[in-house]
Amino acid sequence: MVVTVSLNSGYVMPTLGFGTFSSVLIAEDELVQIFLNGIEIGYRHIDTASIYKSEKAVGKAVSKAVEQKIVSSREELFITSKLWCDDANGDLVLPALKKSLENLGLDYLDLFLIHWPVRLRKKEAGVPKFTFKEEDILPFDMRSTWEVMEECKRLGLVHSIGVSNFSSKKLLDLLDFATIPPSVNQVEMNPLWNQKILRGFCKEKGIQITAYSPLGANGDVRMGGTMDILDSPTLKEIAQAKQKTTPQICLRWLHDKGVTFVVKSYNKDRMKENHQIFDWELSVEEKDKIDNIPQKKNFLGNEFVCPNGPYKSVDELWDGEL
Ligand SMILES: NC(=O)c1ccc[n+]([C@@H]2O[C@H](COP(=O)([O-])OP(=O)(O)OC[C@H]3O[C@@H](n4cnc5c(N)ncnc54)[C@H](OP(=O)(O)O)[C@@H]3O)[C@@H](O)[C@H]2O)c1
Repeated sequence: MVVTVSLNSGYVMPTLGFGTFSSVLIAEDELVQIFLNGIEIGYRHIDTASIYKSEKAVGKAVSKAVEQKIVSSREELFITSKLWCDDANGDLVLPALKKSLENLGLDYLDLFLIHWPVRLRKKEAGVPKFTFKEEDILPFDMRSTWEVMEECKRLGLVHSIGVSNFSSKKLLDLLDFATIPPSVNQVEMNPLWNQKILRGFCKEKGIQITAYSPLGANGDVRMGGTMDILDSPTLKEIAQAKQKTTPQICLRWLHDKGVTFVVKSYNKDRMKENHQIFDWELSVEEKDKIDNIPQKKNFLGNEFVCPNGPYKSVDELWDGEL
C-alpha cells in the first residue's frame, strides 16, 4: 500500500518521494536503471527539476516501468518538476514547463514548483545554469510568475502547483493575490531544522510541506549538506534502541510531523532501507527527544544574496525565519 496525503488541489501525493539531484555526473542509461530500481522497490513519487538534468532519465524510467508492467500506467506515479530561477518570470513559465514535459516525455506533471523565490538572468544556450554572477540576480516578480503557474494548471498541463524555499511571509504575499493557492512548499526539513514556524503557518493555510535534504544531504558540502544529522548521538541512540537506522528514524519522524519528503539514494540497499518506515512507530518520548535537538539551517541560499541584489542578506531571503 502506498502511503499518501491529500493536497488542496484534490489530488493525492505519495508521502515518500525519490530525490534525483546528484552533484556527481552519472551517465543517462545508468540513471534510468537507478530510477527504475526505485520504482521496482515501491517508490511512486519522483522529484526532479530542470536544473537537476535528471528529467530525461526520469521520463525514460517511467516509460520502462509501464512497459515492464512494474506499474499499470503512468497515472500510478507522481512526478514533480521545478521551474528554475532563469525561467521565473511570467513570459518564461509556460515554455519552461513545456520543455520539462518534453524532457520527461509526459503530457502532464503531477506537481510543478517555483524552485526558489529568485529570478536569474537567462543564459545563452550551453552556459551552465548553476554558475551566475551577482548582476544576474534580478528582482523576482512573484505575481507574474504565479499567474502563469495558475495558467499551466488551467491548461491541464499540471495537476497541482506550488513553490519551494518560500518563507511564511512570502507565502502570505502569494496568497494575497493567488486565485489558486499553492498546494505544496518544498523546503529543507530534518531533525536539525524542524521548520516549526513554517509548519504551523502551512497547516493553517492548507499547504503541504515537502521536506528536502531529510538526511542533511549526507554531508555533501556542495549541496549545503551536514553530517550533524547522521552523526547525531540522540538519533543514533534512538536508532539503536529500536533496531532501526538513523536515516529511518529521520524519515519516520518526518512522517509523524505530517509532511511528505524526498530522499535521494542511488544505492539499492539504501533505497529499500529508506522505504521501510511505515510499519513501526516512534514513541512520544522519542519524538520529544528529537524535537529538542538544537536547530541549525544548512541550506541558506547564500548564492542568491548580494549587496546590490534584491536580497541583501540571508535574513531578507528567508524573511527572518532562520
Ligand atoms: N527544492 C530544493 O531547493 C531542493 C534542494 C535540495 C534537494 N532537493 C530534493 O531533495 C532530494 C533529497 O535531498 P538531498 O539529495 O539534498 O539529500 P538527502 O536525501 O538528505 O541525502 C542524500 C545523501 O544521503 C545518502 N543516503 C541516502 N540514504 C541513505 C542511508 N539510508 N544511509 C546512508 N546514506 C544515505 C545518499 O547517498 P547514496 O545515493 O549513495 O545512497 C546521498 O549522498 C534531492 O535529491 C532533490 O530531489 C530539493
